[in-house]
Amino acid sequence: MRKPIIAGNWKMNNTIAATKALVTELIPLVKDAKADVVICTPYTDLATAVELTKGTNIHVGAENVHWAEKGAFTGEISADMLKELGVEYVIIGHSERRQYFGETDATVNARVKAALAKGLKPIICVGELLEEREAGKTDEVVIRQTTEAFKDVDKSELENIVVAYEPVWAIGTGKTATAEDANATIKVIRDTLANLYCRNCADTKIRIQYGGSMNTKNVDELMAMPEIDGGLIGGASLKAADFARVVNFEEVK
Ligand code: PGA
Repeated sequence: MRKPIIAGNWKMNNTIAATKALVTELIPLVKDAKADVVICTPYTDLATAVELTKGTNIHVGAENVHWAEKGAFTGEISADMLKELGVEYVIIGHSERRQYFGETDATVNARVKAALAKGLKPIICVGELLEEREAGKTDEVVIRQTTEAFKDVDKSELENIVVAYEPVWAIGTGKTATAEDANATIKVIRDTLANLYCRNCADTKIRIQYGGSMNTKNVDELMAMPEIDGGLIGGASLKAADFARVVNFEEVK
């Protein structure tokens, strides 16, 4: 009922030359994917990625977007700039932005609204820190982050939004949440959206990914969980064969 969506988050990796090599290798490996396939690249690689993936089933996303339309924001990139490049998706509120670049729930919400206003599809990241998990606050954190991110977002936009649940302690660490834990927290996020909008909207319109050391070994088990609609893949998205294996996960549902 909800089409799976697997997105690569390249982070600050790959020059234009590396992008050409990786995307060229990836195209034939994912061409029959049952999932939607997205690669989110650094700004400098976007034009190359869009050009190379024209006519393929690979969609291109950015890793951030500013909330203002334009103006005196040195070093920032607007939704119009991304849109004109042919970019379709944009990651918003990744934990590395929250941790190192002062991203807050309020700026996440501002970016989400700016992206939607220009027809970009946000991939909104939420997830708890290790100390929050250990303090039993996981549900509280994701409910707050989700509620704030969707403030003043209209119901009609839900189909254009993806949420990525990424427990911060699982990112780049090789530690994955158990499939059951990931499923349970994603259910909490979906129930939050059901409360904010409607049960049917949450069940049919919004796709929720898991992210955090998702890889060739654990993807099948994670994707078998009923609430997990896809993955946001960091490390394993940097090698074509690995990313393709994740995209072409085996259905054990
Ligand atoms: P990882 O990163 O797959 O390397 O853990 C995921 C992410 O940060 O989106």
